[in-house]
Amino acid sequence: MVNNMSHIPEAPGIQDRYSRVIDYLRVSVTDRCNLRCTYCMPPEGVTLLDHEDILSFEEIVAVVTAGAELGISKVRITGGEPLVRPGLCDLVRALSHVDGLDDLSLTTNGTLLKYYAAELKAAGLKRVNISLDSLRPDRFLSITRQGHLEDTLSGIEAAQVAGLMPIKINTVVMRGINDDEVKDIAVLARMRGWSIRFVERMPLSGNEGGYVPSSEVLGHLSPLGTLDPQLPAFHNGPARCYSLKGTGSVGFISSMSEPFCSTCNRLRLTSTGMLRPCLLSDAGTVDIKTPLREGADKAIVQDLLLEAVSCKPGSHSLKSNGSRIGTAMSQIGG
Ligand code: 5AD
Ligand code: SF4
Repeated sequence: MVNNMSHIPEAPGIQDRYSRVIDYLRVSVTDRCNLRCTYCMPPEGVTLLDHEDILSFEEIVAVVTAGAELGISKVRITGGEPLVRPGLCDLVRALSHVDGLDDLSLTTNGTLLKYYAAELKAAGLKRVNISLDSLRPDRFLSITRQGHLEDTLSGIEAAQVAGLMPIKINTVVMRGINDDEVKDIAVLARMRGWSIRFVERMPLSGNEGGYVPSSEVLGHLSPLGTLDPQLPAFHNGPARCYSLKGTGSVGFISSMSEPFCSTCNRLRLTSTGMLRPCLLSDAGTVDIKTPLREGADKAIVQDLLLEAVSCKPGSHSLKSNGSRIGTAMSQIGG
């Protein structure tokens, strides 16, 4: 059970061809979303899948259980927007009982958290990452195409009240759209005790590409005083974090200007049951849904997980060749 693992011997961890230890699985539970963020989705949304095309909760739990025995110790639930999938708290509860997991978290746009935060916490969720790209209602609406700022802000508050800590906020910084709000967002985060992460936009289907380098975002924060680099911590993942004068921490996810492929520790499971070795490459995708539906046992599932890990590329080349991924983030799991 999450957080109650002292008696269980640690699984060895899965090493890939580049000696990276893969211990983190991101599980997308739906490609649907109640928003249409410009950097994530085309305006019309994505072609929606039928219910039978997506993995059932039982199938997800089977994959996670098999992975946990191999050394997957951290699971993040993603979407689309995971909270639009009915019964999500039941999945959280089931995952929280999988032996070997020491972290169970959720990425969400926050709009539905006011309804679910307490139940998610009671079900065993540890923490949430919430997207917040503007503090101005009109901009929030135009970036998300259909979202209301107050829904996300009240969702963040509900998560805080429920104790889903630490609260992490993701802001995708976009030139001429919200880059003038970087400081305001950091100040609010410091005041409210949120860890803020400024994210470089990646060129995925549905956005026009281009990113604001983290070095530039860091410059926007200089009026707030010295930023002291923090030592890497396990829950910071690829974010480079700095402590902010007073309290708080600011992180940067610099997928474009400083790719962190050499320390990548993750594998993705899409809602359609594909194991995806790399967010930014379609190569090496392994179908796990068909074998599961043909009765694959745990050993077969573990072989498929190992196969996907063995296909992980050493690095992505988005920056050097300017390529784009033809799939929307919501279809892969952000
Ligand atoms: N570039 C960078 N991050 C993205 N996300 C979605 N699309 C992109 C993109 N094109 C991330 C954001 C959001 C989370 C759900 O996925 O951080 O908060
Ligand atoms: Fe939905 Fe998140 Fe994508 Fe925005 S970024 S459209 S909230 S999945």
